[in-house]
Amino acid sequence: MRRKMVAGNWKMHGSLVENKRLLDAVIAGLDGLNEARFVVCAPYPYLSSIQNALQSTNIAWGAQNVSQFEKGAYTGEVSTTMLKDFGCRYVIVGHSERRALFGENNFIVAEKYLAAQRAGITPILCVGETLEQREAEITEQVIEEQLAAVIELTGVESLSQSVIAYEPVWAIGTGKTALPQQAQDVHAFIRSGIAKKNAAIAKELVILYGGSVKANNAADLFAMPDIDGGLIGGASLVASEFVSICRAAHH
Ligand code: 13P
Repeated sequence: MRRKMVAGNWKMHGSLVENKRLLDAVIAGLDGLNEARFVVCAPYPYLSSIQNALQSTNIAWGAQNVSQFEKGAYTGEVSTTMLKDFGCRYVIVGHSERRALFGENNFIVAEKYLAAQRAGITPILCVGETLEQREAEITEQVIEEQLAAVIELTGVESLSQSVIAYEPVWAIGTGKTALPQQAQDVHAFIRSGIAKKNAAIAKELVILYGGSVKANNAADLFAMPDIDGGLIGGASLVASEFVSICRAAHH
């Protein structure tokens, strides 16, 4: 049985003071909810304090990016080993902002995914189409290519140790959430494509939806049969919103 999951992606937001205020409220709001999985993905400098804040709670934590390399002369990069030192169980790889703004292509994303898995960290692999690609009716092709790069490098079995997040780029930070059925169609496409390679893995694969998920639309999205929760940007910075979204996944 797939377990619902909600992960917050703070992106480049926060401060020690703000994080404490946010997490205190989120911890209190999620106390005792153990059916769904909850995760917070924070900027690197805060991982130590987040580990302290969350270690005896029902909320796991992770990073938003990681190097594909193990160690060496890679100025400014952070390795999987370093994330492990701070108790990260998850890392987002291939977020569309990394792809669009920092030149990460499908191959680099696949290498990061592999590096995370080798370290025992669960990658949250982001896929999704831009508005132009949707309008050109190549959504499925784009997503298939994004997934194929990972499967070619790591094998379909690796998906049993990962989470996929479908994040249509046109829905990220725009307030234009995909309609539940629109998202469901893509989630079903992803799951059925993987089922052709390995039905058991497809059945257990957690596929999150991301893109303007809010407290007032989360329940409808999470009610769809192939939507297993959400990857939440802006609303993960507002305690009451994030807690409501997590509660929607819990029911
Ligand atoms: P928003 O929830 O702010 O649209 O961001 C989604 C996202 O990019 C999560 O990774």
